[in-house]
Amino acid sequence: MLLSLKLSYKSATGQDYQAGLPPRDLVLINNGTTKEEDEDFVDPWTVQTSNAKGVDYDKLIVRFGSSKIDTDLINRIERAIGQKPHRFLRRGIFFSHRDMDQILDAYENKKSFYLYTGRGPSSQAMHVGHLIPFVFTKWLQEVFDVPLVIQLTDDEKYLWKDMTTEKAYEYAKENAKDIIACGFDINKTFIFSDLDYLGTSTGFYKNVVKVQKHVTFNQVKGIFGFTDSDCIGKISFPAIQAAPSFSSSFPQIFDGKENIQCLIPCAIDQDPYFRMTRDVAPRIGQPKPALLHSVFFPALQGAQTKMSASDPNSSIFLTDTPKQIKTKINKHAFSGGRDTIEEHRKYGGNCDVDVSFMYLTFFLEDDDRLEQLKQAYTSGELLTGELKKVLIETLQPLIAAHQERRKQITDEMVKQFMTPRKLDFEF
Ligand code: TRP
Repeated sequence: MLLSLKLSYKSATGQDYQAGLPPRDLVLINNGTTKEEDEDFVDPWTVQTSNAKGVDYDKLIVRFGSSKIDTDLINRIERAIGQKPHRFLRRGIFFSHRDMDQILDAYENKKSFYLYTGRGPSSQAMHVGHLIPFVFTKWLQEVFDVPLVIQLTDDEKYLWKDMTTEKAYEYAKENAKDIIACGFDINKTFIFSDLDYLGTSTGFYKNVVKVQKHVTFNQVKGIFGFTDSDCIGKISFPAIQAAPSFSSSFPQIFDGKENIQCLIPCAIDQDPYFRMTRDVAPRIGQPKPALLHSVFFPALQGAQTKMSASDPNSSIFLTDTPKQIKTKINKHAFSGGRDTIEEHRKYGGNCDVDVSFMYLTFFLEDDDRLEQLKQAYTSGELLTGELKKVLIETLQPLIAAHQERRKQITDEMVKQFMTPRKLDFEF
């Protein structure tokens, strides 16, 4: 085992392992992998693959050391909640987990847990991909009936982007409206801005320093690829994203209790933060958070990368008009169809690389309809333009309904969601 560790050290750093000496003059790229052409690259800031089908998620499970959400687990969830599992589970969109069986054990023994998720408010513009974790979290909150905390990392965006603290805080409050529009229950949900809440909480900062004491600079370099010239704000930030995993960060919700188990739904690129958190947890006497990981939401141009809020044509924004949605999909959605109608009829389209089909797996609720579309497209009976039309007609009402709900959300409601308070649960 030691020999094989030395080998992976060499392939990751290009240097021979020497006991007690950190690698010289080099940035250890995340998760011990190097940025090779044919390797998928995944970290909290970058997602890149050369494969048109997208990232190889099975490989990622092995590399990150998480577990696959398999049929057994999905069946167990169904038994526990007595309802059909969400389409994101049925279709492998949430595909990986850590310790979900422990959450179900707790739930079946009538022991409570809580949900934690978050968002980095990098701009006002949120796109449909940003909603995936929130739509799923809303469903989890409903079926399990548990408290939820949502962290808005305005501090993170201040540190990483060229942005003032005021602007980041403003975006946090704007993004909170889109999040609230997903339908969260105000009596069961606490949304907080780091810039706001950290200084007022009696529990949060204690957990931040506890995490900070148990992670070395060398470790965060290895996990996140920080270098000697990154500001110390970035280097210590992972402790701030870790802290909400511990119930003692929210004394007002959990009556000061330390041992309430946490479940974090997030996209798989956030896993490095929580691998670190899970490593520290037992050493500071806290339970490890459990996780549910989702795949990335592909850019319109193809699954090689995730949607980006900074490229307007790569995304469908929550503010897009029906017409913009239509134009973007028709013009930019990468097609797995053939070059000519004759060829398409003869050989059929490829759903594995077709972005419109991928989006339908995220948003079309009806399993039978989805299967029919897949067969018709693959056989060549359904043309790309027709498939795109189905997607346009699915997304337009969905986005319009979101805009309608968002309009109803006042600054006063945002303030209520963001006020530290007891929720409708006894601990
Ligand atoms: N770092 C995340 C982002 O940039 C935001 C975040 C904070 C988060 N805490 C989280 C995401 C917990 C998922 C789960 O978007």
